[in-house]
Amino acid sequence: MGDNREISRRTFLNYALMGTGGFLAAGMITPMIRFAVDPLLKGHAGGDTVAVGSVDDFGPEPKLVEFKVHTKDGWYESESTLSAWVTKNEKGEILALSPICKHLGCTVNWNTDPNHPNEYFCPCHLGRYDIEGAHILGTPPTASLDEYETEVKDGKLYLGKLKPNPRPGVSG
Ligand code: FES
Repeated sequence: MGDNREISRRTFLNYALMGTGGFLAAGMITPMIRFAVDPLLKGHAGGDTVAVGSVDDFGPEPKLVEFKVHTKDGWYESESTLSAWVTKNEKGEILALSPICKHLGCTVNWNTDPNHPNEYFCPCHLGRYDIEGAHILGTPPTASLDEYETEVKDGKLYLGKLKPNPRPGVSG
């Protein structure tokens, strides 16, 4: 009977010591883990919008704008210059297209192919897109130019993240 009580006491002390040790260890390790993974938990930066000019500056003719974005990926921070071809149609709808060709990533320009006026043209492999960025069927690109999220605030145009352009290919 006395032995049983002693074993129980030992067992209790073992559990109590293990519990206390575990609690102290968790208290020390948790802040370290939190510090180590904090930037990852916060996700990727770059979701902010950037002002690129007054909305009145844009019209039906594509206009190239350049803007800087500050990105933070984990502990790595950088600043890069991006660009967009921006149009505003007669309904006031704004479209901001990425100039990066969807074939192999060259830069497209507006209206530079005399044989196909009023299109975006990629000089690398003669890729072509219409004014809404839809790829012209039969040319190398198989997807339409990505577009930026857009927002108009206080008369200014802001561009956000890039997203896929849903327009299908068109015959040209
Ligand atoms: S990279 Fe533009 S057509 Fe090939």
